[in-house]
Amino acid sequence: KMADHLRKYESLFTLTPQRMRMIVEAFKESLELGLSKHGQVVPMIPTYVFGWPSGNETGNFLAVDLGGTNLRVCLVTLEGEGKFEITQSKYRLSEEQKQDDGQRLFDFCAECLKAFIVSNIESGAIGKDEVLPLGFTFSYPCSQDRIDHGVLIRWTKGFGAANTEGYDVVEMFRKSFVKHSVPAEIVALTCDTTGTLIASHYVNPSTRIACIFGTGCNAAYMERVGDIPKIASLGIDPNAEMAINCEWGAFDSFEHENLPRTKYDAIIDDTSNKPGVLFLGQNTYKLEIPYSFDTAFLSLMESDPTDELLMIIGIFTHFFAVETTLAERQFFRALAKLVGRRAARLSACGIAAIVSKMGYLEEGCAVGADGSLYNKYPSFAERIHEGLVDIFGAKGRNVVTYHAEDGSGIGSAIVAAMTKMRKDAGI
Ligand code: BG6
Repeated sequence: KMADHLRKYESLFTLTPQRMRMIVEAFKESLELGLSKHGQVVPMIPTYVFGWPSGNETGNFLAVDLGGTNLRVCLVTLEGEGKFEITQSKYRLSEEQKQDDGQRLFDFCAECLKAFIVSNIESGAIGKDEVLPLGFTFSYPCSQDRIDHGVLIRWTKGFGAANTEGYDVVEMFRKSFVKHSVPAEIVALTCDTTGTLIASHYVNPSTRIACIFGTGCNAAYMERVGDIPKIASLGIDPNAEMAINCEWGAFDSFEHENLPRTKYDAIIDDTSNKPGVLFLGQNTYKLEIPYSFDTAFLSLMESDPTDELLMIIGIFTHFFAVETTLAERQFFRALAKLVGRRAARLSACGIAAIVSKMGYLEEGCAVGADGSLYNKYPSFAERIHEGLVDIFGAKGRNVVTYHAEDGSGIGSAIVAAMTKMRKDAGI
């Protein structure tokens, strides 16, 4: 019976190369549409980060990263020639803080930053009267019309703080700086994905694209300004280059026409429970809590090295208070593999859409990738690479993903440095 179920799920969750190519085509159309008009599903946000770093940006910078698993504050020393040093502190945000009033959320970030600066002044890493330039990595979709400003379009990734959507988050954060007398100056607003693009290129100049596969999923790349019709009226040199933050997580989110949507995807969307045929006779209320079965569990299930699948026993007994048979554990492991493989192949479709749109296939390119899914999920990168070969044939091997540099820390500092250099040069 379980074997029958597994076959059913296999056909539901497996993406054929042909299906993937259709997704890539639709994805490309969405990217083009986002570049041509404002307010599209995939917003293709102009970042006002102009061109690649030279690799010779230098100096001390602060970075604040809000938008990944942790709130981070970093002190980055750029040493030029693609080299840098970083020290950082991490803070966990509570669920309440994520839903609290927006200004209070920024106040908290400012307090953490202040404590970090004070301890770095004490250690001598920051001068007593120094006011360092700061890159603010705020990884939620914002519309920008210059680098040190950004209006939050909508919260994502489980945040819901009130009085923030529709507001300039830089201005809000600056208010918190004044309130807490934080000796730092916000010079640039960026997101983790754009930061990853810039940081990865700083150390590996063959990088053309950056992706995040973590709490959120997104990509950034460098576009010719002349190929961004929606900003044509701004009079920027059409041959200049600007990083585009795709915010591709929104792809197909309204029409549901292109991405595979099994009934399970719909159920997850609706956060409803489904009655199961497994765990007979046991109380499964813990498993039925929407979103309780975290991706980290799938990751552990796939990586369990034991014949008896002891780690999977641990997950179910410890976190969900249910006993499992070996057959059930094998079934769940196989399911995890189907879901994990599908996720990686869908990710490959997104990368392929940018590669194909920009004509990077022949020459090949590197793709800096980051986030907990990419870094920790077993075989995620290999499965992306397999997917790229399924889409492009053998040439798909020309596109290689690698673990990116820390975009929110290093990347943000480099963007701050690039901004300062432009400012000093009067651009
Ligand atoms: C980190 C990067 O590894 O991944 C951050 O350094 C990024 O820049 C983060 O924001 C995203 O992943 P997650 O899993 O924390 O959402």
